[in-house]
Amino acid sequence: MAQRPLLIPGYPRILHGGDYNPDQWLKTPEVIDEDFRLMKLAGCNTFAVGIFAWTSYERQEGVFDFGWLDSVMDRMAAAGNKVVLATPSGAKPAWLAKKYPEVRRVTREGLREPHAGRHNHCWTSPVYREKVADVNARLAERYAQHPALGMWHISNEYSGECYCELCLASFQAWLGRRYGNIEALNEAWWTAFWSHTFTSFDEIDPRDLSVDSLKLDWRRFISDITIDFMRAEMAPLRRFSANVPITTNLMGTCTASDYSKLVAELDLVADDQYPAYSPDAADLERDVVQVAFKDDVHRCFKPDRPWMLMESCPDAPQWRHPVQLKRPKLHQAEMLQALGHGAEGTCYFQWRKGRAGGEKLHGAVVDHAGHEHTRVFQSVAELGAHYENLAEIIGSKAQAEVALLYDWDVRWAFEAAEGVRSQHGEYLSAAVDHYTPFARHGVTVDVLAVERDFSRYKLVIAPQLWLLAPGVVERIRRYVEAGGTFLTTYYSGYCDSTNRCFLGGFPGDGLMSVLGIWNEETDWLPAGSKRRAVSRPEASDLKLQSEYATRELCALVKLQGASALLDYADDFYAGSPALTRHSYGAGTAYYQAAQLASPFLHDFYGALIEQLDLPRSLGRELPAGVAVQRRASASHEYLFLQNFSQQDQTLSLPASGYFDLLQQREVRGALQLGAWDSTVLRRSR
Ligand code: GAL
Repeated sequence: MAQRPLLIPGYPRILHGGDYNPDQWLKTPEVIDEDFRLMKLAGCNTFAVGIFAWTSYERQEGVFDFGWLDSVMDRMAAAGNKVVLATPSGAKPAWLAKKYPEVRRVTREGLREPHAGRHNHCWTSPVYREKVADVNARLAERYAQHPALGMWHISNEYSGECYCELCLASFQAWLGRRYGNIEALNEAWWTAFWSHTFTSFDEIDPRDLSVDSLKLDWRRFISDITIDFMRAEMAPLRRFSANVPITTNLMGTCTASDYSKLVAELDLVADDQYPAYSPDAADLERDVVQVAFKDDVHRCFKPDRPWMLMESCPDAPQWRHPVQLKRPKLHQAEMLQALGHGAEGTCYFQWRKGRAGGEKLHGAVVDHAGHEHTRVFQSVAELGAHYENLAEIIGSKAQAEVALLYDWDVRWAFEAAEGVRSQHGEYLSAAVDHYTPFARHGVTVDVLAVERDFSRYKLVIAPQLWLLAPGVVERIRRYVEAGGTFLTTYYSGYCDSTNRCFLGGFPGDGLMSVLGIWNEETDWLPAGSKRRAVSRPEASDLKLQSEYATRELCALVKLQGASALLDYADDFYAGSPALTRHSYGAGTAYYQAAQLASPFLHDFYGALIEQLDLPRSLGRELPAGVAVQRRASASHEYLFLQNFSQQDQTLSLPASGYFDLLQQREVRGALQLGAWDSTVLRRSR
């Protein structure tokens, strides 16, 4: 198995640490001294520094002072720690915002924002780009060779949009490049609708919400200009420190920019996560699976590299109400869940609670009490000690035979359309529904953007594949023809790349012939309504129950070669197919016409897991609330287990010879995991 790169070259440790803001403590150097003592005690080794420190470097325009950072970098190096050095563009100095109003965003309503908050600079402003490039170049030049520099952290949680004249002109120019001439755009956007035919690009205003192709292109533009801004930020870093990896902190499945494209520019993937794991959660299992899904999104962005949690909270964030303390042991379970899904570092927001400001009561490693004798500090220190024993997992990888397609562009197009149930994160929620049975069975799933190669997987699932970019159907066709098993659902194949409906029936672009059905209509029922779907004899190999309840979406399909496995049993469409299967070439294509979640998906995928012989990490289904992930190296396999249920669990293991890396002892017989317990097991392959 090929060796994969470390997060920080030459630093073979699990990264553990957090956002560190000594620039807020410059008047109390004794606090900074104390930080370095506490870092050792906490088993922390990596600190993201300077994320919001611009005013501490450039108090007045053009007058720079990096004194405090010099000292912190030197002390980090002396302590054997690494610094994830940030570019400070996420929060701009007040003098800059005042002197150059163009750097402040303009709202949809056309109002220039005041200087306030953060993450709110204009993406296009040449002044902002120049100022950011300047401070970034100074940081890069000064610290490129510094032994403490581990990686670059570009800005912070890029997001948002600006409607200033510069951004509007930049959008119009982007459209010009995309369509070449205005007639091509009129054609692509179907602008005769409501007399929207344009005669020139400068007539186009993104605040017009009536043309859904425009809405989609605006999302794409915002994504592209965010990436363009990031590239501009990165240029000076690459110039001075070509070998230092660059990352930025993402926000799970946030739709602000197309993460699958953004990460292509980066060396490493880093995510921020604040799960609301709580004994009082309405559906804790769903919360756990949702995090697992996001972890797999991030793991798969760069399958040949580890990713990391850049931010997490060792206790409760102040913004989540109620501010419920993190229960003992949950912190470790949460961090090991990320490692199980391929992370090789888990860091916190933040190292020390600030004395004031909006986040002063946000959970942090070091409390206002200022010492190590706190519950939270001790839980972090315990994990830090475990990480020493876990270093051997570095380089091991997950292996999946199932791919689930989850795509930002498809989501935007779906969410831009009227007349479909696209609100409240429906697209994401469908993806998580389809992912859940695999989590329950302990089967690893790769989550991929549609453009990624899925030809090697045994099973490919594409819930709500609304938009079909050119070539996608051809790739699906070849995959199924060659023996693959493919599943898609209602709301698939409606639109082309500019959100125009396919003519000739859904799913369009030829996907109908692969699926052997025509989706003629889709009934969207009032919230909470259900219809019954009953099994047909043709489904006997899937061992389905005799009847399932649908949710609100019931697509009505006509068979064109496929056979029905479930039929609706109610309403005017009683007797028409709710689930179909089509043998196509050497493979099989399923169409799930009815919105059916658990228990249908659980039963259905349980049968496919057996039929396709998909490996289950524990060899069988897991008890509710237990999560398991498997990573393997050439010589060993590692099982990461977390018991998120509130009961003790006894788990029989698929083989003997496991060694518990946390307890540092052999596992004899079954594994006992108390409520919220977690561990990592190793076995030779
Ligand atoms: C993140 C942000 C951090 C901090 C944290 C609080 O979104 O990047 O700077 O504000 O939230 O939870």
